[in-house]
Amino acid sequence: MRVLTTILAMCVVSLGFAQSPAQAHAKDVFSTSSCTGCHGQTAMGGLGPPLAQTKVEEKEFMDIVRKGKGMMPAIKQDDISDADLPLLYAEVKAKPWVPEEIPVAYKVGQFLSPKSVSRIFMFAFGLAFVMAMVSLGKWLRAAGLPRLMPSLAKLGWGKVAGITIKSLFLDGFLVQSLYKHDKRRWLMHGLMLYGFCGLIIADILIAVNNPQRSQLPLTDPLKMLPLLSGVAVFIGVSYVMYRYKKDEYIDNGLTLGRDFAFVNFLVHVAFSGFLVVLLKRAGAHDWVMTVYLYHLAAVLLLIVTAPFTRFQHAYVAPALAAMTRLTDAVIAAGVDIGFEREPSPGRHHKSVAIAESVLSQLGPEYEGSVTIRYYP
Ligand code: HEC
Repeated sequence: MRVLTTILAMCVVSLGFAQSPAQAHAKDVFSTSSCTGCHGQTAMGGLGPPLAQTKVEEKEFMDIVRKGKGMMPAIKQDDISDADLPLLYAEVKAKPWVPEEIPVAYKVGQFLSPKSVSRIFMFAFGLAFVMAMVSLGKWLRAAGLPRLMPSLAKLGWGKVAGITIKSLFLDGFLVQSLYKHDKRRWLMHGLMLYGFCGLIIADILIAVNNPQRSQLPLTDPLKMLPLLSGVAVFIGVSYVMYRYKKDEYIDNGLTLGRDFAFVNFLVHVAFSGFLVVLLKRAGAHDWVMTVYLYHLAAVLLLIVTAPFTRFQHAYVAPALAAMTRLTDAVIAAGVDIGFEREPSPGRHHKSVAIAESVLSQLGPEYEGSVTIRYYP
């Protein structure tokens, strides 16, 4: 009986040992780790690169695991311990290189390295920039810039530069006319505008200071800037969506589908951006890459469509406002511009004035029964 109990006890003990994490890990740390989700069961890659026969030095390997790299999240101690990490390294280094096992997903994943992502985006950005300049040229020609040129030359190029810069800052960046007109809309517009600028600046700073895009703590300024900017954009754009949805007259032929497209892309960019951060921090590794792809696609769409959507007003309106200031200065200086001035787009209050004057010409019998809705 005692022998039986002893055997039983030994079985229990050995069973216990067999299942103890230390022993299981010693056999195969890698295949039981969360790495397999992205680097494949045989370490020949998933959405992340193959790790088999890795050429990465041990120290750098540890560094990548703890700090993350690009879309790879920082892996914490409770996921894989410091003791297991060297075992895992030795293990993947010794794994056979089987090219047939590199999944198609990795070929997609290759697009996700910070280097190639930034290349794709530089290309898209360059394309959008050229298109933007073409459309800006069209607007400036339509606003009479070529005819204004001789007068500007008389005004002096130094003065022209001064007026232009001041206007770009006050009318463009600070959106003075909207501030005077409607403070709440100015604030909501500002959340989008300055939030957007914050995102761009953050991306440049990160590219310079953290080229590997390793995972930073939430309190790091480089992380806070994009997060706060993202929140600002999201609030601003939600307000615009709300206004679009609430206003039964919004589809009046003036507000084009392209406006909606722009606002929608912006919503998707902000939403998917937060989702990526959230999933990464929550350790939902299986979802991170998919949602990141969705985020990149949204950003890419926003960039390449920018010159054709409502985004256009972000550079056209300030340019035209500056032109109006220049025309004012030319007239104030007593230079004959040789043509009648017309209200330029981008100066909303003038269009409002026109609408009001049309309304006043309708006569008193229409008082109260007609509303002109003006959408800048
Ligand atoms: C959410 C998916 C994901 C998980 C989980 C993940 N990785 Fe990665 N890993 C990646 C991606 C994507 C890259 C490519 C990063 C880049 O180059 O931008 C990468 C890159 C690496 C690299 C650099 C490879 C090279 O050749 O440059 C190492 C090393 C690495 N991972 C190890 C690990 C280990 C070890 C684990 C588990 C503890 C792990 N990873 C978990 C996605 C992941």
